[in-house]
Amino acid sequence: MSQEAGKRTARLWRRILPSNPSLGQTPPYMREVDRKDAEILGALLFEAFSGTIDDAGQREMHYVQKVEAILDGRYGDWVCAASWNFIDHGTLRSVCLVSDYKPYGCPVIAVVATAPEFRQRGDANTLLDAAVRSLAMLGYSQCCAMVTVGNHASERLFSSCGFVPDRHP
Ligand SMILES: CC(C)(COP(=O)(O)OP(=O)(O)OC[C@H]1O[C@@H](n2cnc3c(N)ncnc32)[C@H](O)[C@@H]1OP(=O)(O)O)[C@@H](O)C(=O)NCCC(=O)NCCS
Repeated sequence: MSQEAGKRTARLWRRILPSNPSLGQTPPYMREVDRKDAEILGALLFEAFSGTIDDAGQREMHYVQKVEAILDGRYGDWVCAASWNFIDHGTLRSVCLVSDYKPYGCPVIAVVATAPEFRQRGDANTLLDAAVRSLAMLGYSQCCAMVTVGNHASERLFSSCGFVPDRHP
Protein backbone atom coordinates (compact mmCIF):
# COMPACT_ATOMS: atom_id res chain seq x y z
CA MET A 1 0.00 0.00 0.00
CA SER A 2 1.34 3.43 -0.88
CA GLN A 3 1.81 5.98 1.92
CA GLU A 4 -0.82 8.22 0.37
CA ALA A 5 -3.37 5.43 0.14
CA GLY A 6 -2.73 4.54 3.80
CA LYS A 7 -3.62 8.08 4.92
CA ARG A 8 -6.60 8.79 2.69
CA THR A 9 -9.95 9.94 3.93
CA ALA A 10 -13.19 9.92 2.00
CA ARG A 11 -16.09 12.29 1.94
CA LEU A 12 -19.71 11.63 1.08
CA TRP A 13 -21.05 13.68 -1.84
CA ARG A 14 -24.76 13.94 -2.57
CA ARG A 15 -26.95 15.04 -5.42
CA ILE A 16 -30.67 15.74 -5.63
CA LEU A 17 -31.99 14.03 -8.75
CA PRO A 18 -33.96 15.84 -11.47
CA SER A 19 -37.73 15.72 -11.05
CA ASN A 20 -38.62 15.47 -14.78
CA PRO A 21 -35.88 13.20 -16.09
CA SER A 22 -35.28 11.76 -19.52
CA LEU A 23 -32.20 9.96 -20.73
CA GLY A 24 -31.99 12.20 -23.79
CA GLN A 25 -29.68 11.35 -26.64
CA THR A 26 -26.86 9.02 -25.70
CA PRO A 27 -23.67 8.24 -27.62
CA PRO A 28 -24.07 5.16 -29.86
CA TYR A 29 -21.31 3.34 -27.97
CA MET A 30 -22.92 3.83 -24.54
CA ARG A 31 -24.31 0.53 -23.22
CA GLU A 32 -25.86 -0.83 -20.05
CA VAL A 33 -23.24 -2.82 -18.16
CA ASP A 34 -23.45 -6.54 -18.83
CA ARG A 35 -22.90 -8.93 -15.91
CA LYS A 36 -20.71 -11.17 -18.06
CA ASP A 37 -18.19 -8.34 -18.52
CA ALA A 38 -16.87 -8.48 -14.92
CA GLU A 39 -13.38 -9.50 -16.04
CA ILE A 40 -12.85 -6.70 -18.53
CA LEU A 41 -14.41 -4.20 -16.13
CA GLY A 42 -11.98 -5.37 -13.42
CA ALA A 43 -9.10 -4.96 -15.86
CA LEU A 44 -10.25 -1.42 -16.65
CA LEU A 45 -10.49 -0.52 -12.95
CA PHE A 46 -7.04 -1.94 -12.30
CA GLU A 47 -5.58 0.21 -15.06
CA ALA A 48 -7.62 3.29 -14.10
CA PHE A 49 -6.78 3.28 -10.38
CA SER A 50 -3.13 2.32 -10.82
CA GLY A 51 -0.91 5.04 -9.35
CA THR A 52 -3.81 7.15 -8.08
CA ILE A 53 -4.43 8.20 -4.48
CA ASP A 54 -6.92 5.30 -4.30
CA ASP A 55 -4.34 2.72 -5.36
CA ALA A 56 -3.81 0.52 -2.30
CA GLY A 57 -1.70 -1.98 -4.22
CA GLN A 58 -4.57 -4.25 -5.28
CA ARG A 59 -3.96 -6.66 -8.11
CA GLU A 60 -6.18 -6.99 -11.17
CA MET A 61 -7.98 -10.01 -9.68
CA HIS A 62 -9.02 -7.90 -6.68
CA TYR A 63 -10.73 -5.42 -9.00
CA VAL A 64 -12.46 -8.28 -10.83
CA GLN A 65 -13.67 -9.57 -7.45
CA LYS A 66 -14.84 -6.08 -6.50
CA VAL A 67 -16.83 -5.78 -9.74
CA GLU A 68 -18.34 -9.23 -9.16
CA ALA A 69 -19.27 -8.21 -5.60
CA ILE A 70 -21.01 -5.07 -6.89
CA LEU A 71 -22.86 -6.94 -9.64
CA ASP A 72 -23.81 -9.73 -7.21
CA GLY A 73 -25.39 -7.20 -4.87
CA ARG A 74 -22.94 -7.49 -2.01
CA TYR A 75 -22.89 -3.66 -1.69
CA GLY A 76 -26.69 -3.44 -1.94
CA ASP A 77 -28.76 -4.25 -5.01
CA TRP A 78 -26.86 -3.51 -8.18
CA VAL A 79 -28.82 -0.92 -10.19
CA CYS A 80 -28.23 -2.32 -13.66
CA ALA A 81 -30.52 0.24 -15.34
CA ALA A 82 -28.30 3.10 -14.10
CA SER A 83 -24.92 1.43 -14.73
CA TRP A 84 -23.43 2.35 -18.07
CA ASN A 85 -20.22 1.92 -19.97
CA PHE A 86 -18.60 3.04 -23.19
CA ILE A 87 -17.50 0.29 -25.53
CA ASP A 88 -15.99 1.84 -28.62
CA HIS A 89 -15.14 -0.57 -31.47
CA GLY A 90 -14.75 -3.40 -28.97
CA THR A 91 -12.63 -1.36 -26.55
CA LEU A 92 -13.99 -0.69 -23.06
CA ARG A 93 -13.25 2.99 -22.42
CA SER A 94 -15.08 3.81 -19.21
CA VAL A 95 -17.65 2.56 -16.74
CA CYS A 96 -19.99 3.76 -14.00
CA LEU A 97 -21.55 1.22 -11.59
CA VAL A 98 -24.42 2.05 -9.23
CA SER A 99 -25.61 0.15 -6.15
CA ASP A 100 -28.59 0.74 -3.90
CA TYR A 101 -26.56 0.69 -0.68
CA LYS A 102 -29.16 0.93 2.10
CA PRO A 103 -26.92 2.43 4.84
CA TYR A 104 -26.57 5.62 2.74
CA GLY A 105 -30.35 5.86 2.34
CA CYS A 106 -30.01 6.34 -1.43
CA PRO A 107 -28.20 4.72 -4.37
CA VAL A 108 -24.44 5.20 -4.49
CA ILE A 109 -22.10 5.60 -7.43
CA ALA A 110 -20.02 2.55 -6.49
CA VAL A 111 -17.31 3.30 -9.02
CA VAL A 112 -16.65 5.46 -12.05
CA ALA A 113 -13.49 5.10 -14.10
CA THR A 114 -12.05 5.91 -17.50
CA ALA A 115 -9.04 4.16 -19.05
CA PRO A 116 -6.02 6.50 -19.00
CA GLU A 117 -5.83 6.83 -22.80
CA PHE A 118 -9.46 8.08 -22.99
CA ARG A 119 -9.33 10.60 -20.14
CA GLN A 120 -10.55 14.20 -20.24
CA ARG A 121 -12.84 13.67 -23.22
CA GLY A 122 -16.06 13.80 -21.22
CA ASP A 123 -16.66 10.04 -20.86
CA ALA A 124 -17.08 9.99 -17.07
CA ASN A 125 -19.21 13.12 -17.19
CA THR A 126 -21.55 11.53 -19.74
CA LEU A 127 -21.79 8.23 -17.83
CA LEU A 128 -22.40 9.94 -14.50
CA ASP A 129 -25.03 12.18 -16.03
CA ALA A 130 -26.72 9.09 -17.55
CA ALA A 131 -26.60 7.36 -14.14
CA VAL A 132 -28.21 10.39 -12.49
CA ARG A 133 -30.97 10.58 -15.11
CA SER A 134 -31.56 6.83 -15.02
CA LEU A 135 -31.89 6.84 -11.24
CA ALA A 136 -34.37 9.69 -11.44
CA MET A 137 -36.36 7.77 -14.07
CA LEU A 138 -36.41 4.80 -11.68
CA GLY A 139 -38.05 7.05 -9.10
CA TYR A 140 -35.13 7.84 -6.79
CA SER A 141 -34.86 11.38 -5.46
CA GLN A 142 -31.23 11.45 -4.35
CA CYS A 143 -27.93 9.67 -4.93
CA CYS A 144 -24.46 9.83 -3.43
CA ALA A 145 -20.81 8.89 -3.84
CA MET A 146 -17.84 8.41 -1.52
CA VAL A 147 -14.92 10.40 -2.90
CA THR A 148 -11.38 10.27 -1.55
CA VAL A 149 -10.25 13.70 -0.41
CA GLY A 150 -7.47 14.76 -2.78
CA ASN A 151 -8.69 12.68 -5.74
CA HIS A 152 -8.84 15.89 -7.75
CA ALA A 153 -10.13 14.38 -10.99
CA SER A 154 -12.94 12.67 -9.09
CA GLU A 155 -13.78 15.75 -7.02
CA ARG A 156 -13.93 17.84 -10.18
CA LEU A 157 -16.07 15.23 -11.94
CA PHE A 158 -18.65 14.98 -9.14
CA SER A 159 -18.74 18.72 -8.63
CA SER A 160 -19.25 19.25 -12.35
CA CYS A 161 -22.17 16.74 -12.29
CA GLY A 162 -23.98 18.61 -9.52
CA PHE A 163 -22.84 16.62 -6.46
CA VAL A 164 -22.06 18.53 -3.27
CA PRO A 165 -19.76 17.25 -0.49
CA ASP A 166 -21.02 16.79 3.05
CA ARG A 167 -19.35 19.29 5.34
CA HIS A 168 -17.45 16.71 7.39
CA PRO A 169 -15.34 13.94 5.85
C1 LIG B 1 -12.04 10.52 -12.31
C2 LIG B 1 -12.12 9.97 -13.73
C3 LIG B 1 -13.21 8.88 -13.75
C4 LIG B 1 -12.49 11.09 -14.71
O1 LIG B 1 -12.70 10.49 -15.98
P1 LIG B 1 -12.70 11.34 -17.34
O2 LIG B 1 -13.43 10.54 -18.37
O3 LIG B 1 -11.34 11.78 -17.65
O4 LIG B 1 -13.57 12.60 -16.91
P2 LIG B 1 -14.24 13.69 -17.87
O5 LIG B 1 -13.43 13.85 -19.11
O6 LIG B 1 -15.69 13.36 -18.05
O7 LIG B 1 -14.09 15.02 -16.99
C5 LIG B 1 -15.02 15.32 -15.95
C6 LIG B 1 -14.58 16.59 -15.26
O8 LIG B 1 -13.43 16.33 -14.45
C7 LIG B 1 -12.33 17.13 -14.88
N1 LIG B 1 -11.11 16.32 -14.80
C8 LIG B 1 -10.91 15.13 -15.39
N2 LIG B 1 -9.67 14.70 -15.08
C9 LIG B 1 -9.12 15.65 -14.29
C10 LIG B 1 -7.85 15.78 -13.65
N3 LIG B 1 -6.91 14.83 -13.77
N4 LIG B 1 -7.63 16.87 -12.87
C11 LIG B 1 -8.59 17.82 -12.71
N5 LIG B 1 -9.81 17.77 -13.32
C12 LIG B 1 -10.05 16.69 -14.10
C13 LIG B 1 -12.64 17.53 -16.29
O9 LIG B 1 -11.99 18.72 -16.67
C14 LIG B 1 -14.15 17.70 -16.23
O10 LIG B 1 -14.46 18.93 -15.59
P3 LIG B 1 -15.52 19.95 -16.26
O11 LIG B 1 -16.79 19.14 -16.50
O12 LIG B 1 -15.69 21.01 -15.24
O13 LIG B 1 -14.89 20.40 -17.54
C15 LIG B 1 -10.75 9.39 -14.21
O14 LIG B 1 -9.74 10.34 -13.96
C16 LIG B 1 -10.38 8.08 -13.54
O15 LIG B 1 -10.74 7.00 -14.03
N6 LIG B 1 -9.66 8.14 -12.41
C17 LIG B 1 -9.27 6.92 -11.67
C18 LIG B 1 -10.47 6.25 -11.05
C19 LIG B 1 -11.13 7.16 -10.03
O16 LIG B 1 -10.47 7.82 -9.24
N7 LIG B 1 -12.48 7.17 -10.04
C20 LIG B 1 -13.27 8.02 -9.15
C21 LIG B 1 -13.53 7.40 -7.85
S1 LIG B 1 -14.64 6.03 -7.93
